[in-house]
Amino acid sequence: MRDLTMNTFGHFDDSGREYVITNPATPWPWINYMGTEDFFSLISNTAGGYCFCKDAKFRRILRYRYNGVPMDAGGRYYYIKDGDTVWNPGWKPCKTELDAYECRHGMGYTRVTGEKDGLKADVLFFVPIGHRCEVHRVRLTNTGNVRKSFQLYSFVEWCLWNASTDMENFQRNLSTGQVEIDGNVLYHKTEYRERRDHYAFFGVNRKFDGFDTDRETFIGLYNGFEAPQQVFAGTSGNSVAHGWSPIASHRFDLTLEPGASEELIFVLGYVENAPEEKFVAPGVINKAKAQVMMRAFATGAQVDAAFAALKAYWDDLLGRFIVASDVPELDRTVNVWNQYQCMITFFFSRSASYFESGIGRGMGFRDSNQDLAGIVHLIPDRARQRIIDIASTQFPDGGCYHQYQPLTKRGNNDIGGGFNDDPLWLIFGTVAYIRETGDFGILDEPVPFDNKPGTEVSLLEHLKISFAHVTDNLGPHGLPLIGRADWNDCLNLNCFSDNPDESFQTTENKTEGSKAESLMIAGLFVAEGRDFAELLERIDADKAYVDKVRADVAAMEEAVKKYGWDGEWFLRAYDYYGRKIGSDECEEGKVFIESQGWCTMARIGAEEGLCDKALDSCVNYLECEHGMVLNTPAYTHYIKDYGEISSYPEGYKENAGIFCHNNPWVIIGEAMAGRAEDAWRHYKKITPAFTKDQALRKVEPYVFCQMVAGKDAEKPGEGKNSWLTGTAAWTWKAVSEALLGIKPQYDGLLVEPCIPIGTYRIRRRFRDAEYDLTIRQTGKGGKAFIPYKPGKQVLDLTL
Ligand code: BGC
Ligand code: NOJ
Repeated sequence: MRDLTMNTFGHFDDSGREYVITNPATPWPWINYMGTEDFFSLISNTAGGYCFCKDAKFRRILRYRYNGVPMDAGGRYYYIKDGDTVWNPGWKPCKTELDAYECRHGMGYTRVTGEKDGLKADVLFFVPIGHRCEVHRVRLTNTGNVRKSFQLYSFVEWCLWNASTDMENFQRNLSTGQVEIDGNVLYHKTEYRERRDHYAFFGVNRKFDGFDTDRETFIGLYNGFEAPQQVFAGTSGNSVAHGWSPIASHRFDLTLEPGASEELIFVLGYVENAPEEKFVAPGVINKAKAQVMMRAFATGAQVDAAFAALKAYWDDLLGRFIVASDVPELDRTVNVWNQYQCMITFFFSRSASYFESGIGRGMGFRDSNQDLAGIVHLIPDRARQRIIDIASTQFPDGGCYHQYQPLTKRGNNDIGGGFNDDPLWLIFGTVAYIRETGDFGILDEPVPFDNKPGTEVSLLEHLKISFAHVTDNLGPHGLPLIGRADWNDCLNLNCFSDNPDESFQTTENKTEGSKAESLMIAGLFVAEGRDFAELLERIDADKAYVDKVRADVAAMEEAVKKYGWDGEWFLRAYDYYGRKIGSDECEEGKVFIESQGWCTMARIGAEEGLCDKALDSCVNYLECEHGMVLNTPAYTHYIKDYGEISSYPEGYKENAGIFCHNNPWVIIGEAMAGRAEDAWRHYKKITPAFTKDQALRKVEPYVFCQMVAGKDAEKPGEGKNSWLTGTAAWTWKAVSEALLGIKPQYDGLLVEPCIPIGTYRIRRRFRDAEYDLTIRQTGKGGKAFIPYKPGKQVLDLTL
């Protein structure tokens, strides 16, 4: 029996940039992502999960059941039948007790090793660069001293492409399934006969001894994944699926002498064909591209080379920013896992994780802009394209769709719009990109409105209308009207919903006549407005316009000081009727984090001491053992005038959860105020590498999660919504710029550290320059500007 009270499930292996899981029964599936282009996979520590090409909703390749019991059932399973024992290298689904188990989650790959009765199975999973497939290298070794004859089965279950209808439309689905079997490859071609131009396949580099493509034949109608009837019988049904549930399984009858090894290479791929090239004969699919992929991974040497290329890709990326300090938790977070998570959130936005089903949410306007801040130094070309894609969904008045679908890049109306913070994030993303790259040319790119050809204006014009969208929508106090909501999607001040069957996020809002204003947008506007003015000056924009931008920013600062200060902290908002939210006058929800974060980052009222007071209030009222909660006291009942925020039980999500995303705002605010100890303490509390209690945290200890249960929750410290969260980019910004102090500027790097860790070294690539900096802190808060100059520079800075 496994010890379920155990508190440690794995550890970091810094040299290999891996997290090593040593107990498969983690408190929640601990997953990894694979893929760098448009083929992506999610894989758990027991090999559960799925893959898709381009779009997790419309091009889902493997079926996955989010609500299954047990959870995380389904994935790429290898079964070994050795005598009467059936086991899996990743423990699940059979859960046969293993003699040894290890899962290594690395950069874009996962390696699962299991050992049982003198047989070792080492399975390397990765998505090679340049191919739309997963490669599974299965290495079997006889570690005992007797000859072993056993069977190996592969198994995947196909999704009927549209992950949403796959779970709903059974009257149709159960009749559409089609497969083809050719050579060593099992093809999944459901709906290819009609409008689809794509199919999937699961092949192997040697002849198999049996196969199945029909789930019922392979598993048996009354069995689960843990008891496939063919495996237990040592047979294959050689079934050809017609409708029902198509799968792919190969069987191999193998014999290994003591000490001997065998290697099998499986390829799980996806192919698109032009309409005229879909078939080679009536009903027979064109397999040429699949065969090319199969040939690309026919030998171990080819796999080694592809794997080395993947490693080189990550070596190059993660060679761009390296810190060496005396704090290993900091170094591994900065050098490996935070940057890795930034890449994953950039690729996936909020679409597919173990908390996001890949169906509901595409690319968020505000989310994707914030994600840019985490990757502009890594993949600037893709950042550039993303900015253009996002801006292309904007409307002429500066408003925008809240989300767009990655497959079409078109705005998604179902998710609605009218979130009044959205437009400002375009300025945020673009400024981050230009500061990193120096590519002012992007401002001249023609960008359409709502993707309509012929409507193009320059990106700079889009930024102008983004800015104007705030000044065109001011409320009675001269503060920004909140619209449907600001960054906090759950502060629904114009919604007034009493119908449980409508979504807070999309239902009709009563913005007409509303007085609801947001201090979070006000702070964001001041911070981004200043950045915008500086950018405009750099490009010699029309002086009168720059003056107007500066004047609008100044007016907003005044409005915040006059109407947005509560005495000890910044107010959060005014509601529909003009009543205060986030004030000492309120019974609940007296203090909120978002306005403290943004107004202190914008340094509003700093001279009058407002920022220090607001930061003190964060410490005094919001900080708890595991981080700062979003608001306090939590709402104890549903308030129709506030919406979804009060729908959550106390301590969870937007109702007084520790919403990790906005902790970095305060951390940056602290650093800007020169309060290094506070900034560092807040940072350590939300950074998983510092977490001691893995069982309590529950989710992966190597990535940030969106929310950790707050002090009012049942289990304070329990994490949820790991991986896809703006926390990744924001903690990156906080640690790299505010704490370690490496701040990209238009013409160089400003080094301005604020972290109580003494001396450390930074190696930072910046455009065509490479800086090797030794930073010695004297505690006086000094700074240095290093003008951009291509080439290598070694500098010793005492600050
Ligand atoms: C969640 C938010 C999220 C929103 C939009 C809400 O249910 O609490 O965190 O931003 O949905 O998807
Ligand atoms: C998650 C959403 O993805 C993000 O856009 C939003 O700002 C936060 N939740 C807060 O509600």
